Amino acid sequence: MLNETNTRTLDLLNDLSDDQLAVPYHRGINPPIWELGHCAFFYDFFLLRHLNNQGARMPGYDDVWDSLENYHEDRWREGVIPNKATTLDYYLSIIEEMRSFLQSGNAIPHQMYLCAYSIYHQDMHIESLIQARQALTYPEPTFTTKLETSTQTSTKPCSLGDAIVPAGSYPIGLPAAPPSFEGFCFDNEKPGFNAELDAFAISKTLVSCGEFREFVEDGSYQNKNLWCFGGRHWLREDTHLHPPSWKKQDGEWILQRFDGWHPLQPNHPVMFVSYWEAEAFCRWAGRRLPTEYEWEAAARGPQGNRYPWGNTMDTTRVDMDGKRMGQVAVDEFPKGASPFGCLQMLGTAWEWTTNQYLPYDGFCVDMYPYMSTLQFGDHKTTKGGSCATSSQLIRNTYRQAYYPSRNDVFTGFRTCAI
Ligand SMILES: [Fe+2]
Repeated sequence: MLNETNTRTLDLLNDLSDDQLAVPYHRGINPPIWELGHCAFFYDFFLLRHLNNQGARMPGYDDVWDSLENYHEDRWREGVIPNKATTLDYYLSIIEEMRSFLQSGNAIPHQMYLCAYSIYHQDMHIESLIQARQALTYPEPTFTTKLETSTQTSTKPCSLGDAIVPAGSYPIGLPAAPPSFEGFCFDNEKPGFNAELDAFAISKTLVSCGEFREFVEDGSYQNKNLWCFGGRHWLREDTHLHPPSWKKQDGEWILQRFDGWHPLQPNHPVMFVSYWEAEAFCRWAGRRLPTEYEWEAAARGPQGNRYPWGNTMDTTRVDMDGKRMGQVAVDEFPKGASPFGCLQMLGTAWEWTTNQYLPYDGFCVDMYPYMSTLQFGDHKTTKGGSCATSSQLIRNTYRQAYYPSRNDVFTGFRTCAI
């Protein structure tokens, strides 16, 4: 676990020049060097310094690496973050210490839980680093299959219609067991409960670029009737006529992916769309977004599977770990289907749901009190992870919070019949 996370983190930084690492201020990302130090600090703060009472491994820098203490804008201020060499030394020494600790076999169960928590925390920052490369128009990660630049692979979207989920009682979340390494989950997934759902029909595939193109070309961004109050406010602020990662060239749509523009592939999933765009698309299509409970029921089935296909992760059934970065047809990965036949519920794109991101009844914080609490209330719940998410991090019950205005992250959606 640690080795994979460490390797991918370094892969995301090693090919960038010092100039590329000195990123300009951007409200949706962090300086990559800060992310490196912040991940190291997490291991140090929650685990390593408590093992032998030697104190902080980088004395005097807790406030720099702690995301609560160091305000976002301040991370760009001259002299706040140590240079790359110093930060990398700190990071590598922490990883080495973690490796020795794990190999020693001396970790008690609670310490194993803290190790896993810190590794998964770093996995979250891996997705942030990949997203930063997209936002900054840097090249795709070196571990990604080279992106298509050639002709279109398909002329048509490839929707497979709806899956019917019968009315019933469906497990949501996970039991309120004490935090543990086995059956790991975050505080916001607990305590689990059963949701009584009416029957509903949910699309087997993610909304494709071809389907979304029809919405765009119908003048939908100018049709105020399709947008709710929040959506109209978002449109006023950013004056979009189409997703900002799209543009027309010689009469054809091309999409920005990392440092290049590529022909729109009609059968690929639409990504980098806000909640407001997803909701307006649904109104235009005579559909609706799923609730997060409907999404989870469609992914888990009545048995409450950990993954759509069962209870063991299988990375051949998903587009995750930055391998293909959403350059997949929406009807690919049939072996990753959920019990109701929904495809790519894990990986590919975070899926918008209608729910505000809120705690379940009986919520208690785990060891890191700010994992979820800062986002409760004004974010939307997205589900399923994306092509940039680490496969070891994700499961059907995982909940991610995004502001509904975010269109710079790997968000897409599927729809339900009204
Ligand atoms: Fe963090």
